[in-house]
Amino acid sequence: MTLEEMRILLQKSLKAKRYEHSVRVYKTALEMAEHYHADVKKVAVASLIHDCGRQISKEYSVAKAKELGIPVDPVEENQPILLHAKLGVYYAIHKYGVSPDDREVLDAIRYHSTGTADMTQTAKIVFLADLIEPGRDFEGVEALREASFQDLDRGMLLSYDNTIRYLLEDGLLIHPDAIAGYNQLAVKTKTAQSKKEKNKKNN
Ligand SMILES: [Fe+2]
Ligand SMILES: [Fe+2]
Repeated sequence: MTLEEMRILLQKSLKAKRYEHSVRVYKTALEMAEHYHADVKKVAVASLIHDCGRQISKEYSVAKAKELGIPVDPVEENQPILLHAKLGVYYAIHKYGVSPDDREVLDAIRYHSTGTADMTQTAKIVFLADLIEPGRDFEGVEALREASFQDLDRGMLLSYDNTIRYLLEDGLLIHPDAIAGYNQLAVKTKTAQSKKEKNKKNN
């Protein structure tokens, strides 16, 4: 399926607001792909259809996931909106013709909402583009836009920081994949920092 065919199918499947968001994410992700010399084709597909699982409204997503044999974890059972990422992987394969072997695209869709450890460049770009597209307006979005174009991991770490804080404040659950992603980058940053300090001391 061509990208244009995917776009038309997506437009038919999603509410106008969600479709327009998807197009903005796509455009932002392409800017980032160019900036970081990433795989433009993978980024294009994954960003455009990242929310294709939203064709199932959250009231039905638990039932739909179970019907399709998609495992539902306790956090998703409580916050079914999270399931649109797993449902998205299903529709990417069965509706938008993405190869089941295309882990790069499928994982970017799968983890676009929670993040996780060991994300690919494509997945980080889709995750961040989803948050910084021009339609987003939340406290700290400008700083996140800046960080996302400076360094992908800095952007990711800042996103986890914002999101985890917001989830706690709102009394919501934090998905273990997000914690795994946060911890990995926090450790990496701390290790880099202590190395820097050591070097300073030695000089
Ligand atoms: Fe999403
Ligand atoms: Fe999205």
